[in-house]
Amino acid sequence: MANIKRIGILTGGGDCPGLNAVIRAVVITAYRQYGVEIFGIRDGFGGLIENNVEKLELKDVSGILPRGGTILGTSNRDNPFQYLVKKEKGNCEYHDASAQVIQTVKDNKLDVVITVGGDGTQSIAHRLYEEYGIPVVGIPKTIDNDIDGTDITFGFDTALGIATASIDKLHSTAESHHRVMVCEVMGRYAGWIALEAGLAGGGDVILIPEIPFKMEKIMDKITARANQGKRFSLVVVAEGAKEEGGDLVVAREVTDPHDPIRLGGISQYVGNKIEDLTGIETRFTILGHVQRGGSPSAFDRILATRFGYHAMEAVMQEKFGCLVGLRGKEIKTTPIKEAIAVPRRVKPDSDLVNTAKAVGTSFGI
Ligand code: F6P
Repeated sequence: MANIKRIGILTGGGDCPGLNAVIRAVVITAYRQYGVEIFGIRDGFGGLIENNVEKLELKDVSGILPRGGTILGTSNRDNPFQYLVKKEKGNCEYHDASAQVIQTVKDNKLDVVITVGGDGTQSIAHRLYEEYGIPVVGIPKTIDNDIDGTDITFGFDTALGIATASIDKLHSTAESHHRVMVCEVMGRYAGWIALEAGLAGGGDVILIPEIPFKMEKIMDKITARANQGKRFSLVVVAEGAKEEGGDLVVAREVTDPHDPIRLGGISQYVGNKIEDLTGIETRFTILGHVQRGGSPSAFDRILATRFGYHAMEAVMQEKFGCLVGLRGKEIKTTPIKEAIAVPRRVKPDSDLVNTAKAVGTSFGI
């Protein structure tokens, strides 16, 4: 414990509500409980590569608990092992910037780096720990809820609330106009937001990446509802859902070796097919980044605060290379290696899926 005096913290990957709550908890615990210093690393791993590091004082985290985003900034592009150095007319040049990371850690005399992020961030953290000996402690965040080592990530509950509230809004307008409304939610290759928001919002059809769908089964559900006099239907579709035997619907492909695919558009595809095949007027809505913005829910503020406090405990106990996570009602640590081994996906035979089926939801199968 006596060895730890200066701790760096970064937020990497896509932002999500609750990041500021984590930063606040880490900073306050560090100063109040342990009398150690915290250094904020700007813009994810970019700050470690470019030595963009500043001391965080208690005053810096005052009032940030309910704020969305991250006061540190973030980036889902800056991978130290493949760092973009030049971009000219669509041609990109990358180099290995791990030596710069090590130098930044040395220059700032950081004894440990707390990495707040999803699977991409934690994979990089794991490599820095295993291959370069940089002590790290991970904190899982993402609206997608797709990282193992925790029952739930912070950010997810807020996104779920936003998605559910949006489905409620679509519900009333669908009912008035006797339309089918298709609502596309985020989640990348995991169906958690679609499944849970669909369940909470009473989606008649829920389409998730883990259960490839058939258009005719969606038609069956919508037609059956119409035959019962229900003149509207709600379809909730995850951005990563795909038709059986079909491909992902991609909004754009970009030159980024880590994440070249921007998902988006499956709701339009499904909506157009529904209208063409049933003749029922159909509209689609892509919720997009509103799901990631704004103030965190009470649940996310509490979870993020618990993660921040427990990450500091792990740091002070020198439990490096681990990730804090919620297991049941307790916060536990798991080696990052284990947490990133297999992404957390919806199990098609899980209780949540079976519950949704039991209350009449179609998964398009
Ligand atoms: O991982 C979080 C997430 O919001 C995904 O749900 C979504 O596919 C992706 O990030 C969008 O990334 P970007 O902000 O780079 O467009």
